[in-house]
Amino acid sequence: LDETSLPIDLLLSVRRDGRATLGSQIEEQLRSAIRSGGLRPGARIPSTRDLAHQLGVSRRITVEAYAQLAAEGYLTLRQGARPRVSDTARIPGAVIEARAAPQPPPRFDFRPSMPDVSAFPRRAWMRSLREAVNAITDADLGYGDMRGIDTLRSALADYLGRVRGVVADPEHVIVTSGYSQGLGLVAHALAARGATRIAVEHPGYPEQTLIVARAGLEAVPVPVDDSGLRVDALPSVDAVVVAPAHQHPTGVVLSPERRAGLLAWLREHDAVAVEDDYDAESRYDRPGIGALQGLDRDRVVYAGSASKTLAPALRLGWLVVPPHLSDAVATEKMVADGGSARIEQLAFADFLARGEFDRHLRRMRARYRARRRAVVAALAGELPEATVHGIPAGLHVTLRLPEGHDLDAIHAEARRRRIELETSADYGLPSPPLLMLGFARIPEPAIRAGVRELAATIRAAADS
Ligand SMILES: Cc1ncc(COP(=O)(O)O)c(C=O)c1O
Repeated sequence: LDETSLPIDLLLSVRRDGRATLGSQIEEQLRSAIRSGGLRPGARIPSTRDLAHQLGVSRRITVEAYAQLAAEGYLTLRQGARPRVSDTARIPGAVIEARAAPQPPPRFDFRPSMPDVSAFPRRAWMRSLREAVNAITDADLGYGDMRGIDTLRSALADYLGRVRGVVADPEHVIVTSGYSQGLGLVAHALAARGATRIAVEHPGYPEQTLIVARAGLEAVPVPVDDSGLRVDALPSVDAVVVAPAHQHPTGVVLSPERRAGLLAWLREHDAVAVEDDYDAESRYDRPGIGALQGLDRDRVVYAGSASKTLAPALRLGWLVVPPHLSDAVATEKMVADGGSARIEQLAFADFLARGEFDRHLRRMRARYRARRRAVVAALAGELPEATVHGIPAGLHVTLRLPEGHDLDAIHAEARRRRIELETSADYGLPSPPLLMLGFARIPEPAIRAGVRELAATIRAAADS
């Protein structure tokens, strides 16, 4: 197939009232589109034959207009190839985007929160995606139910009941674009019925403060200790966001007493909790503790995500909403985006039904368990003065340094050595000095060297 025969549309129009010739109108519109950046450098444009046909003018006119623009340096014309907008460098006044020079990759990437996406189950996902495209009904190719595709809501209800002890009626499951959107939808629904204040853990997932603020709620920080959220420190709020299974970033679990205390508090204050269960599947010493939602389905909104288990790029999350809030949250979903992408939902339902999700989790758990163990062993050897906090779970270890370490100096030294990491200063808590060391993406053989380099970084920062 000759490349020039591929049809390409171009938004041009010509007037035949005689004020300007047809050729000069074509030239002027192309020139101005290229100068303004609407037609970008290298962009393909229609062949002269195609454009002549689209505009209903003779081919001679388009050939001459293109030749003129090529002579001026706007277009590149080559025999047998699609005409293109040429390099902007030669066009005066053209908009040239500054491209940041690519940064070399970090030598050791200890940032928390990211799973090892290099292990994304591409083949199994492709199979489910292909199956979804084949199987999706014409009805499901429309907007359908804002809460999500029936088969996925049922599959999620089964999965969450089995693995997380969530009591879920598919009626009240809402598929979202990740946890982030789920929290935003709940916040909007609460604000619409008069809520004004919502408690968030401090330190906690930084983005959530912004998310609830956009819904018009005031985020009230509540401290966290070794038993999780300080329920005794809860102020007067309409809702509480909490990560009971594995608090982020401290890595602690909400103790049984605190769980009971929180549920009692919610009942007493007629409030609801949003349970962020973002990485409950990554527990390495025993099965995860059941979700808080299973203890009170009328007071707890359960929120989950595929971001830690599969990949953030999927933007797949889910809510299990108390019946009294379910319609209000579904309305917010409709307002936000008219429902999540349905082919991907069907693919995920197929992925769950085939047992691929369980298989993937089992594989990743073994991989993460080994990496975590290697990091903890290396830390004991290289940084004996520091202590590891939190349970064997999640995608990072929380390392407590002795008092007196300057986290800004550690950050600066790490940058110099091309080591990526996060500290408690990134969460607005410089003391006690904590490092959040993600281990998910560092292959086991590189861990010892990475931790040695980290220890050298901390010593150099202390000496400087
Ligand atoms: C504490 C916490 N909750 C939830 C998420 C997941 O967010 P999402 O599902 O929007 O990707 C993250 C991701 O970094 C997180 O750290």
